[in-house]
Amino acid sequence: MLELLSLFGITTGQFIFGATAIGGSIAAKIAVDMDTAKKEREDRAVTKAYDEMIQKKKQIEVSLFNEDKQKVNEEIKKNYEQMQVDRKQRELKEYKLIEDTCETKYPYKGIKPNSMDELLIGHDVNGEPIWGKATNYIVAGTTGAGKTRKMYPIVLNYLAAQQGTLYIGDLKGTDFFMFKNKKNVVKYVSDLENAPEVIKAFESEYEARKVLFNQGGYINLDDYNKRSDSKLRLFMLVIDEYADIADTFHDRIGRPLGCYADLVRLARKVRSFGGRIILGTQRPDVTVICGQLKNNCAVIGLQCVNTISSNVMIGNEGCERLIPTEALTVMNGKLVKVFSYNITDEKLNECISKLR
Ligand SMILES: Nc1ncnc2c1ncn2[C@@H]1O[C@H](COP(=O)(O)OP(=O)(O)OP(=O)(O)O)[C@@H](O)[C@H]1O
Ligand SMILES: [Mg+2]
Repeated sequence: MLELLSLFGITTGQFIFGATAIGGSIAAKIAVDMDTAKKEREDRAVTKAYDEMIQKKKQIEVSLFNEDKQKVNEEIKKNYEQMQVDRKQRELKEYKLIEDTCETKYPYKGIKPNSMDELLIGHDVNGEPIWGKATNYIVAGTTGAGKTRKMYPIVLNYLAAQQGTLYIGDLKGTDFFMFKNKKNVVKYVSDLENAPEVIKAFESEYEARKVLFNQGGYINLDDYNKRSDSKLRLFMLVIDEYADIADTFHDRIGRPLGCYADLVRLARKVRSFGGRIILGTQRPDVTVICGQLKNNCAVIGLQCVNTISSNVMIGNEGCERLIPTEALTVMNGKLVKVFSYNITDEKLNECISKLR
């Protein structure tokens, strides 16, 4: 062996040193491998623990969520029950108030508005008058809800205080004929056939004012009354049961045609010239209260059959819970309850007889 080593020029010392070196590097390698294995094992243990922890966290979250959900549900249920109780108590109170006060204490008083900017649309729970903006109105609600009786004070006050002109489409034929011979009533029609005539007559007044305002450079009625020598009053078109017009004059997909289209157009244009349109309908659906009309009219919603009708009228539910003589309307962005004046036939005749 030594001979063999010397043949390659390697001394004994060198051999021992080399063997030791080789042994050392193997040991080092084994140590490194063991380290790596240990580390991997530790890593795996850490990962497993981490996974378990996440799993536990998820379980806790789910149980908390379920608990929360249950709590929230219970809360909602409790609130809802309380709401029902509140509503019942409130309604009872309101019914009582109506019985005690409105029906008996606050008959129509023949109140006169102070300015051309207001119309009397009813009274509040204390009997104080509610003045609505003098704009176009749709009075809607189911049959017998008190629509026509809601329209009377608006018209009576308008005639008494403003003494403007009136155009009447009484499509039922029985509710406005008492006004027929009054001095300020320009046109009265009592059936659907003649409805286009009354709308035309109203339109003629608008056209005449348009020419007048254009020539004089007036921007609206106020401006005209301030700057010109003569004074102009409002002019009002009242059509009760106007659904008859909407049902007859529309195209295949429900778009207004003929005199219904004229009505919609006038509702959009007459205001600044002093024109006001008051419409009554039993049918609060989207063909009758179409988008174009709704954009240009305030809606007074009386009792109706369901929440869908209520939403069509006032953009809210609530009218389905009203009793006759109550109404809801949106004023300055808020929903307001408006009570009707108690107008008996005798009272109505008395008021009308006092008009010129
Ligand atoms: N403000 C009120 N004052 C006195 N009576 C009222 C009032 N509102 C409703 N009534 C009573 O209810 C009845 C129906 O009222 P009104 O004719 O105004 O209802 P309507 O909604 O116009 O009905 P229709 O759909 O049949 O035209 C009246 O005849 C009257 O007896
Ligand atoms: Mg009516």
